[in-house]
Amino acid sequence: MKTKLAVVAISISVYLLSSGFKVASLQQPKPWIVPDKYLKMVNPIKTSAESVKDGKELWGTHCQSCHGKSGKGDGTKAAQLKTEPGNFTLPATQKEPDGSFFFKISEGRGDMPSFKKKIPEADDIWNLVNYMRTLKS
Ligand code: HEC
Repeated sequence: MKTKLAVVAISISVYLLSSGFKVASLQQPKPWIVPDKYLKMVNPIKTSAESVKDGKELWGTHCQSCHGKSGKGDGTKAAQLKTEPGNFTLPATQKEPDGSFFFKISEGRGDMPSFKKKIPEADDIWNLVNYMRTLKS
């Protein structure tokens, strides 16, 4: 009986320790406030096979290393990041308006680079947004 209790106590401590470490090493993303102007923005590029194809190409070049091939946040660089890159296949992420994605991609924050210089054409960012809409599980 005593050994059983000891095993339970040890398992609980190990669990608490490991979850504590996780909290310390990987910060939960803080709310990312998107200006109203962007929340209301209408995507000027209608989704089409061509737009999605262009977006996919940009994704492979600029985004996949962190966000992963299918947008689940499991890219090769993900383990080195201080913040989780998120999971675009989740309905909660897909609920964000197009303009919110546009703003976050343009401006960046912390580990998420700003792309307005690397991808200067707004239409290309919209193509990326259209591609990201196909990343559903
Ligand atoms: C160096 C790694 C890295 C690269 C490259 C990168 N991202 Fe990110 N991205 C992140 C991280 C980390 C976050 C979370 C940032 C935060 O919440 O502070 C993020 C967040 C985002 C968000 C917001 C997610 C949400 O839930 O609101 C979008 C949209 C996004 N990235 C799109 C892209 C696109 C598109 C590209 C390529 C053009 C890209 N990212 C390239 C690391 C990266």
